[in-house]
Amino acid sequence: MDLQSDLKKIGQVLDLPKTLQQGVSPAEVTRYYQLTNYFYRRFHSREGAMHLPLYLPQRAQNHYEGLYEQANLIQDFIQNTDNQQVMEIGCGQGFNSIYLAKQNPQHQFVGLDLTALHIRQAQQKAQGLPNLTFRQGDFQKMDFAPHRFDLVFAIESFCYTRDISLIFKQLASVLKPQGKVIIFDVFTHPGFENLTADLQLAIHLNGIGFAVEKWWNIEELRQNAQIAGLEVLIAQNLASAIMPNLLSFQKGARRMFRYPQLTKLLLQLGVLPSALVKHAMSGVLAPYSIGEVAQGYFQIVLQKNK
Ligand SMILES: C[S@@+](CC[C@H](N)C(=O)[O-])C[C@H]1O[C@@H](n2cnc3c(N)ncnc32)[C@H](O)[C@@H]1O
Repeated sequence: MDLQSDLKKIGQVLDLPKTLQQGVSPAEVTRYYQLTNYFYRRFHSREGAMHLPLYLPQRAQNHYEGLYEQANLIQDFIQNTDNQQVMEIGCGQGFNSIYLAKQNPQHQFVGLDLTALHIRQAQQKAQGLPNLTFRQGDFQKMDFAPHRFDLVFAIESFCYTRDISLIFKQLASVLKPQGKVIIFDVFTHPGFENLTADLQLAIHLNGIGFAVEKWWNIEELRQNAQIAGLEVLIAQNLASAIMPNLLSFQKGARRMFRYPQLTKLLLQLGVLPSALVKHAMSGVLAPYSIGEVAQGYFQIVLQKNK
């Protein structure tokens, strides 16, 4: 299969111009996560991880272990001094925060997430962990005291930011001087406008299926971080480390479009929720854009200047 054929099959099920035009409303983010909650737990991680496993050279080589790699890379930045304050924004069901809070009993952790269901699941799993609390809320409207945190991290949640300038101002405000932000997420490479029309379409649709209104460009990230007083220490593209998982997801997701007329009928009858079909669409399209040309999967480390 190639991108053109995949787009054609998907287009037989979904009205692509309409899908593009509708975009993603803020309310759809929580609806998407409520709907996909069961599927994430059933097919992705029983422990509640909602991000991609990393297959890094000489490190984890299976799905289960790979899910801990983002947190392991964050652990390298958690210092051993007493009582650091760490926050995860878009913590989902708490997988990363629980893992890190267990490893660092001397530090305090806060997990913040928009989806109430995720927060309930996280709280249940974290029972008895005295150094971790979860809060339901929008990370674009943070109300924490200034200079509270030593480290804030976001694993595949930064992409939900609707105002990149605002989020960096807020992050800079809640961080202590020299505090750090660590982000793992998809960002578009410069030169989006030079990509083929099919690839540009695939990138937009891929976002919509994951309830992401807009993928940010890596240059937009650099500029806005800098304006807010956050210096980029690391911007590393780990695209090849997520590819094994993307390819196996693609294989499964293509089944949704194998019999397009049947899927379309089930969609029209309401048997298949449209968010689920769109999620499968993203599964089919993601491997085409992720790499060195169109989009990367970045580990970003930022440090507050003063
Ligand atoms: C792909 S999941 C990742 C969850 C978690 N970081 C992990 O690695 O398992 C993205 C999460 O971001 C949350 N999210 C999206 N927009 C948000 C916002 N504006 N404020 C807080 N959380 C948000 C979603 O509810 C979801 O739990």
